[in-house]
Amino acid sequence: MAGGVSTPALAAAVSAAGGLGFLAAGYLTADQVREQIVQTRMLTDAPFGVNVFVPGQSIADPEQVAEYALSLTAEAERLGVSVGEPHPDHDDWHAKIALLEETSPSVASFTFGVPSPAVVARLQEAGVAVGVTVTSLTELVEAKASKPDFVVAQGPLAGGHRGTFDPLALPSEQPLYALLAELSSNTRLPIVVAGGLASSEDVEGVLAAGAAAAQAGTAFLRSDEAGTPPAYRAALVSAEYPRTALTKAFTGRWARGLVNDFMRDHESDAPFGYPEVHQVTSPLRRAAAAAGDAQRMALWAGVHHDRALAAPAATILSTLVP
Ligand SMILES: Cc1cc2nc3c(=O)[nH]c(=O)nc-3n(C[C@H](O)[C@H](O)[C@H](O)COP(=O)(O)O)c2cc1C
Repeated sequence: MAGGVSTPALAAAVSAAGGLGFLAAGYLTADQVREQIVQTRMLTDAPFGVNVFVPGQSIADPEQVAEYALSLTAEAERLGVSVGEPHPDHDDWHAKIALLEETSPSVASFTFGVPSPAVVARLQEAGVAVGVTVTSLTELVEAKASKPDFVVAQGPLAGGHRGTFDPLALPSEQPLYALLAELSSNTRLPIVVAGGLASSEDVEGVLAAGAAAAQAGTAFLRSDEAGTPPAYRAALVSAEYPRTALTKAFTGRWARGLVNDFMRDHESDAPFGYPEVHQVTSPLRRAAAAAGDAQRMALWAGVHHDRALAAPAATILSTLVP
């Protein structure tokens, strides 16, 4: 869970308790990820994973992004900051792949696309098991061409960004079980299932339906070890934020979060274009988080956010294990 939510403490706590904790490399430099890998290894000898964003071609229309930035100026100023400048950014991709090859975490998972067969092979040779997040059969076919070790099937109820490869496409609404069944009949790769899993019954259900493992994000947002800011933790279980929706208002790419004022105000004027829109809104979101203003932060969350427990990650994990 990129953006400061996933921490070495969270990944280590989940792994030490028998799960497979993940570090989030998205938005960080390779050096920052290296530091987090070192910290995680100081906290546990257990295996853990690292999740990486696959960069894509820029699809932003510079005029639309500039217009959107202009429309956010007053809102940013009220929070004491200026909107960010869009700029080319590949999320330190090449350095991150080299880092994974060198430090060899047990698992690397990818979202927003598929690493090339050469990259997957390099990581596998370094002892890293490689997974690719997919949201449809078409994406599975693309992922298989790179010969990963497993795929993650992300269903429509998932919190945070949809892994959808095509940044202009509306994310698939295919229900999780239908997606799992369709993927299962088209691959022998192990399928990890994600999206809306909030109890041991949910996990038992997907395992019985053929999933190799279950993945949860939202369930850990209020864990003691997560980096989730206080206002975000409170919003997850507040009657003020009863529902989630998909939005591209924060990052120019579809993601599910708690519906707040920023999402409502920019439901229709936000253009497509990740990372440009993310760069434009980023100072505003950071300032909102620092001010405890949950109405202007990206409150990424899955549909079962109100069931997220405030507890140690190991306790939360135990509520998910059948
Ligand atoms: C706050 C937050 C941040 C996320 N960041 C990432 C990320 O960096 N990379 C990724 O592959 N998925 C990310 N996801 C999606 C999760 O990998 C997973 O698909 C999702 O959490 C599963 O649904 P759930 O939230 O209902 O458990 C994020 C989810 C949340 C809630």
